[in-house]
Amino acid sequence: MPTNDERMRRLEEMRAESLQGGGAARIERQHAAGKLTARERLELLLDAGSFVELDAFVTHRSSDFGTGEQRILGDGVVTGHGSIDGRLVFVFSQDFTVFGGSLSEAYAEKICKVMDLALKVGAPIVGLNDSGGARIQEGVASLGGYADIFLRNVMASGVVPQISVIMGPCAGGAVYSPAITDFTIMVEGTSYMFVTGPNVVKSVTHESVDSEALGGSTVHTTKSGVAHLAAHDEAEAIEAVRRILAHLPQNNLAQPHVTDTSDPVDRMDPELDDIIPDDPQLPYDMHDVLSRVVDDGEFLEIQPGWARNIIIGFARLGGRSVGIVAQQPAVLAGALDIDASIKAARFVRTCDCFNVPIVTLVDVPGFLPGVAQEHGGIIRHGAKLLYAYCEATVPKVTVITRKAYGGAYDVMSSRHVRGDMNFAWPTAEIAVMGAEGAVNVIFKDAIGAAADPAAERRRLVAEYEDGFANPYIAASRGYVDDVLRPSETRPRLIRALEMLADKRDTNPRKKHGNIPL
Ligand code: HXC
Repeated sequence: MPTNDERMRRLEEMRAESLQGGGAARIERQHAAGKLTARERLELLLDAGSFVELDAFVTHRSSDFGTGEQRILGDGVVTGHGSIDGRLVFVFSQDFTVFGGSLSEAYAEKICKVMDLALKVGAPIVGLNDSGGARIQEGVASLGGYADIFLRNVMASGVVPQISVIMGPCAGGAVYSPAITDFTIMVEGTSYMFVTGPNVVKSVTHESVDSEALGGSTVHTTKSGVAHLAAHDEAEAIEAVRRILAHLPQNNLAQPHVTDTSDPVDRMDPELDDIIPDDPQLPYDMHDVLSRVVDDGEFLEIQPGWARNIIIGFARLGGRSVGIVAQQPAVLAGALDIDASIKAARFVRTCDCFNVPIVTLVDVPGFLPGVAQEHGGIIRHGAKLLYAYCEATVPKVTVITRKAYGGAYDVMSSRHVRGDMNFAWPTAEIAVMGAEGAVNVIFKDAIGAAADPAAERRRLVAEYEDGFANPYIAASRGYVDDVLRPSETRPRLIRALEMLADKRDTNPRKKHGNIPL
């Protein structure tokens, strides 16, 4: 029988062994590739000394085909819990130094265990991904392991925040776990995501492309919309996780944390009164409006490089976390197209899941016209945004800064779709369409028959602008609750959010709605 001392020594030896991952040479290779190890990443992510590891002694159960009978303690993923800014979070960090971070049955069970615990206690899950995908030696047991994780991603969706950071390869079906989570952050240059890699693409479609061009961070944050943020390096990616979590509650039954702010709640910004150009065709940058309104001008923009005609992200107003959805008149005149509708719809639903009030800034000439948009399904995709706003029960406060034309007026958190407080600036134009378009439809014949058609058109446009292109018709019907000087926007938004803080609203009981996917 071993003595107690021997037993304690064995435990310490095993603990020490479990910290080695795939060994010094592979760790060196990981560093040489510009990547941190799984444990180094967790040290950056979690509050110092807060990490509690689970399942450090788990090993794989597969055949030794090609593994040289290695059984590595922990088997390629480090799991457990810790805290971020003092709040509990569950984590898994894939260890590329162990069989390329590939996923075995036991490895999947480790991830499932922390996901189950996170759901049980209502805390966020952060996954740091760096993996060669399914462990080849494990065959279908690995595929089953992935499916077990996917199922938990779905069960946790809308219950606890889930954030994925891609810090190396993420290929094949493995991409579908991050895809289901609330936010995906990629590291520039060292991470990629694709369903099939360059070799398969070459053999199937004869396209030549490398990993970066196929599924690097630039592709997914500017073209596909798969990822929400790209970071210059791993530390920046991890900082982004902390910043996002600061805006979210622990779970769907909790409220986001209200912080102290030194930015006065009654601060007015006179510059805002002149921010809208006199010429309604001229653009301005909605970021300038946002930075003058929110606490300390701090805005955590999400998906800044994709569908730039709409802006989404988190900010604070009077210390309260808010989700911002705002048109960007400087890109495509702020029109709603397919990508913008999808981007904003998903964000509205994310905020609604996690009790984050939504502030919407509207300057929208309508849905983007064109054959490509119609054939691409703008009807179906635009409906997603309409659906998301209708369905959302969190406080919804809207400011129409300039144009709110046509169906886009309805969609963008109007009173009719349960917007709680709807404000407009004096520069707002709330109408079925712009003046030129309206005059052309109604007075086409009259203009043609006039002695001076151009003068007649100008006269009618001016008449329309006077009569329709203003906020007062909507205000006279109570569709708009008040017309604000732009400089008053911050205090009025904060008062509205305070008033709505205890808002309770529900939807009819149903299994789930049928959002047009
Ligand atoms: C077992 C794997 C592995 C895997 C890598 N390794 N991928 N072991 N199963 N899937 C091992 C290697 O043998 C090597 O072991 C170590 O990890 C590092 O791999 P390298 O190839 O040396 O590293 P690198 O050159 O950086 O290339 C990384 C890589 C490449 C691009 C990820 O390894 C690769 O292409 N792997 C296969 C990827 C793949 O096709 N996976 C299946 C995808 S389909 P040693 O002992 O030398 O360190 C999938 C389905 C999921 O995942 C389904 C969900 C439903």
